[in-house]
Amino acid sequence: MTKLDQIRAAESRLLLTTYERNPILFVKGKGVHLFDEQGERYLDLLSGIGVNALGYGHPAIEETIAIQSRALIHISNLYYHEGQAELALRLTERTGLDRAFFANTGTEAWEGALKLARAYAGLKRSEGVQIGTKFLALEQSFHGRTFGSMSTTYKAKYRDPFGPVVPGVEFVRFNDVNDLRAKFSHEVCAILVEAIQGEGGIRPLTQEFFAEARALASSTGALLIVDEIQAGMGRTGKWCAYQHYSIPGAPTGRSERSPRALDASVGWIQPDITTLAKPLAGGIPLGAVLCTEEVARVMHAGMHGTTFGGGPLACAVAIAVIDAIEKDGLLAHATEVGDYFQQQLRTLAGRHEAIVDVRGKGLMLAAELDSAELAKLVVAEMLKRRILINCTSDTVLRFLPPFILEREHVDTAIAALDVILTEQAGHPAQAAAAPSTGGHERG
Ligand SMILES: Cc1ncc(COP(=O)(O)O)c(C=O)c1O
Repeated sequence: MTKLDQIRAAESRLLLTTYERNPILFVKGKGVHLFDEQGERYLDLLSGIGVNALGYGHPAIEETIAIQSRALIHISNLYYHEGQAELALRLTERTGLDRAFFANTGTEAWEGALKLARAYAGLKRSEGVQIGTKFLALEQSFHGRTFGSMSTTYKAKYRDPFGPVVPGVEFVRFNDVNDLRAKFSHEVCAILVEAIQGEGGIRPLTQEFFAEARALASSTGALLIVDEIQAGMGRTGKWCAYQHYSIPGAPTGRSERSPRALDASVGWIQPDITTLAKPLAGGIPLGAVLCTEEVARVMHAGMHGTTFGGGPLACAVAIAVIDAIEKDGLLAHATEVGDYFQQQLRTLAGRHEAIVDVRGKGLMLAAELDSAELAKLVVAEMLKRRILINCTSDTVLRFLPPFILEREHVDTAIAALDVILTEQAGHPAQAAAAPSTGGHERG
């Protein structure tokens, strides 16, 4: 019995059945590659579902963990440590928001955002403003698995087994401005969006829809809350995906690094609240809720909290991740390699009718196929060629690679996809076989 077999047998007895794992036992990683216990190398185009932005074994992360773990790992939020304000400063500077609360995961950050919105609406009501408690979320949205997050997540499969869900959530048809207008009223306390839907299939909001959501929310004092848990922290080539959208008529060209001169001069569609997690601390769990000064005035000591959130280790690593992204020019790199990747996928779509759409931004990309069976099969075939991708929304091949991906890795993936799709179309595989950088060799 191999070690993998032993672990599989033990897990099947001991763990709750929440995942259908692929039968691979990973033991280490380096750069954009993972290695299994046999030493086989895999090209990782999923990065732990959008987490390992700097890849594996990045010296900035390793050194920070070593140093910080020797100094202090946890103290509780009853005391000060050096990291939270320093990280909050970096994040507020880069997002255009004013204040931060640190949690541990994406769903927890989102819960914090929902709680802030309800509390803020209560404050506004006490100030005489007519505003209700309803959330408008979007069809195909995904915000997490805890109760509030699940209740604002669209797909029935995530909600129905656990009903009744949190009341007061209505779903708007994705990118349907008329539906948004029809469902918006003084009852709404917040409009909830992902600038680019992740689990929903890498679907960007249209400029028109996003701008209308901002305008409607501002018209009543409701909040616009943007979930950047998957798209944020540089994956799309900007710190937040909402920074790709502009306010009609507003001056643009404002630097992401010259913050706080917000509002009219901001240039991009500024949310009242945003949430970050996944890559924030390079693989150490950390989530953040960021909000405006105006929204922050509702929060008082004791209203919200967490034992672990924003601990010294996670904050130190997050600071190191942000600094490394800037030092290594990874925003520009994600844009450049992402554009190349997208262009290669489009070329591939020109050769394979099975690819019905290619979309995304930077290194948050998708190729939608014409059937769920084919998408599943392609993921499995890529795995056989030791390339990790996954399938979301049944038919969508999703690519969320580390930001350090290079063109040669893109070429490897494209060549493999070409071979697989050619085989599946029933034609002999004329395309070049996957080149050696595809991870066939041992590492
Ligand atoms: C957009 C978005 N929001 C929230 C979450 C939940 O994050 P977590 O799994 O860290 O709770 C995810 C996770 O995939 C996500 O993609």
